[in-house]
Amino acid sequence: MQTTREILLGRRTIRKYTSDPVDENLLMDILEMGCRASTTGNMQVYSIIVTRDADIKKELAPLHFNQKMITEAPVVLTFCADFNRFNKWCRLRKAEPGYDNFLSFVTASIDALLVAQTVCIAAESSGLGICYLGTTTYMAHKIIEVLKLPSGVVPVTTVTLGWPAEKPEQVDRLPLNAVIHNEVYMDYENEDIDLYYSEKEERDDSKRFVAENSKETLAQVFTDVRYKKADNVHFSKILLQVLKDQGFMNQ
Ligand SMILES: Cc1cc2nc3c(=O)[nH]c(=O)nc-3n(C[C@H](O)[C@H](O)[C@H](O)COP(=O)(O)O)c2cc1C
Repeated sequence: MQTTREILLGRRTIRKYTSDPVDENLLMDILEMGCRASTTGNMQVYSIIVTRDADIKKELAPLHFNQKMITEAPVVLTFCADFNRFNKWCRLRKAEPGYDNFLSFVTASIDALLVAQTVCIAAESSGLGICYLGTTTYMAHKIIEVLKLPSGVVPVTTVTLGWPAEKPEQVDRLPLNAVIHNEVYMDYENEDIDLYYSEKEERDDSKRFVAENSKETLAQVFTDVRYKKADNVHFSKILLQVLKDQGFMNQ
């Protein structure tokens, strides 16, 4: 049996799954463990949409830019910031909810992400593989339609889940020193940046990315190819409209 340390330090994202199903009892057990995560004021302002149905996965696939994990993973979990349920409870109990604002969206998103990551750890501890899909916030407006999310509910991340059919090499992380600040934030000098990013830049896979994309530096692969300003601006506008439409920007 692996220790928590071994599980956390040994993990990697899994993007290929076997055709074996994920047992319903195992999934419920994992979700129950996930829902033990800390939650703001014990309000649990999140919902988890479990998708197993092939037709719904087919509808979701283009919204996740046809990343094949959506249709190939036996289970797709969409984690939503959700004040709808809590608001209804308040109104039924003669309490007036004041959660139609941006702060409440952030609160519910934090709750949703904490439960998502706890579900992931529970799943990985059970031998399952997971992959987060960042496309959720890009295409939230369309995912809302497919999953029939009412006002007060916004999808914030998606996780595909299944039995691993691959064991990819672990990818790098920055050295711990790069992300830890003792007591107060110590801003980075140019030499610190050179030092902290050198290992990443020297990796063969990084050099391959740079060459394949005909770029000069690895950073340019991020700014010019993977996470471009134009895309960020475009999807920001859509997400802000989603927050308005779902009732989170009334103040
Ligand atoms: C919020 C979030 C969104 C992500 N979106 C995607 C995605 O859309 N497609 C994908 O293949 N991997 C996605 N990933 C996985 C990351 O690429 C992966 O975690 C990272 O490269 C580090 O690899 P590792 O998890 O194997 O250590 C996402 C991860 C996070 C946390």
